[in-house]
Amino acid sequence: MRPLEGRVAVVTGASRGIGAAIARRLARDGARVAVVARSEEELVRLADEIGGLPIVADVTAQGASERILAEAAVLGEVSIVVPNAGVEASHKLEAITDAIWDETLALNTTAVFRLLRAALPAMVERRRGRVVVVASNAALAGYAYTAAYCAAKHAVLGLVRALALEVARSGVTINAVCPGFVDTSMADRAIERIVEKTGRAAADARAALEGLSPQRRLVTPAEVAHAVAALVVDEARGIHGQAIAIDGGQTHG
Ligand SMILES: NC(=O)c1ccc[n+]([C@@H]2O[C@H](COP(=O)([O-])OP(=O)(O)OC[C@H]3O[C@@H](n4cnc5c(N)ncnc54)[C@H](OP(=O)(O)O)[C@@H]3O)[C@@H](O)[C@H]2O)c1
Repeated sequence: MRPLEGRVAVVTGASRGIGAAIARRLARDGARVAVVARSEEELVRLADEIGGLPIVADVTAQGASERILAEAAVLGEVSIVVPNAGVEASHKLEAITDAIWDETLALNTTAVFRLLRAALPAMVERRRGRVVVVASNAALAGYAYTAAYCAAKHAVLGLVRALALEVARSGVTINAVCPGFVDTSMADRAIERIVEKTGRAAADARAALEGLSPQRRLVTPAEVAHAVAALVVDEARGIHGQAIAIDGGQTHG
């Protein structure tokens, strides 16, 4: 029997990148997966591929969390929640407008808070559940020109650590995974920015990102998905309130 047979998962930010890889992996391990994002076409294609349920939603919208959970419930009791949708913002301090700050916090932090506020009580009542928040190693260390993103990811890790204590005796676990640069469209945008700002060739810009990791490479989405899959099985109950760095040894959770 596959390890997640009979389980229902919700993965946000699943139309591409890390979220899509997590959805594919959880489905491969036997879960029925509700995939959430704004891009309907990509979501429907992925849902068809993995036999999942597409839920088109902007997770920052008022009431989105409750609607997502209500729609996902057609698959059964949701016992795995992976808030993954996020956006990076790279600006020096003076260039961070109120709008950039608000949008960065709204998606990376507030939307996670709202989804967990909506999802956790039922899991605690059933004494069964796994939450894995996709944070970043920017939750563990500061990086120049990413103040809003670092603040948002540090905040979401604080949320994970506090909630871990609140639900500790319920059998529900909550953890964060903290990747370094992952080979997705987010990393592509970072490379484009470096090219734009420094005039360096794209290959050099990519090498600079790779060089941040002691392994001298970008993490793959499948590697992040592997960590999530390991945290949601029953046997992972003792791993709770943790920040698991997936960055080739760059930082330490
Ligand atoms: N790539 C990296 O280097 C890296 C490193 C560390 C941590 N992370 C974190 O990993 C997570 C995923 O990143 P990624 O690299 O896979 O990014 P990505 O390729 O840009 O994908 C982002 C995903 O989030 C969805 N999304 C964005 N805004 C949304 C909204 N308002 N409502 C619903 N869904 C929304 C996007 O779908 P739609 O546009 O269709 O809505 C997409 O599916 C993020 O939390 C990011 O901070 C990434």
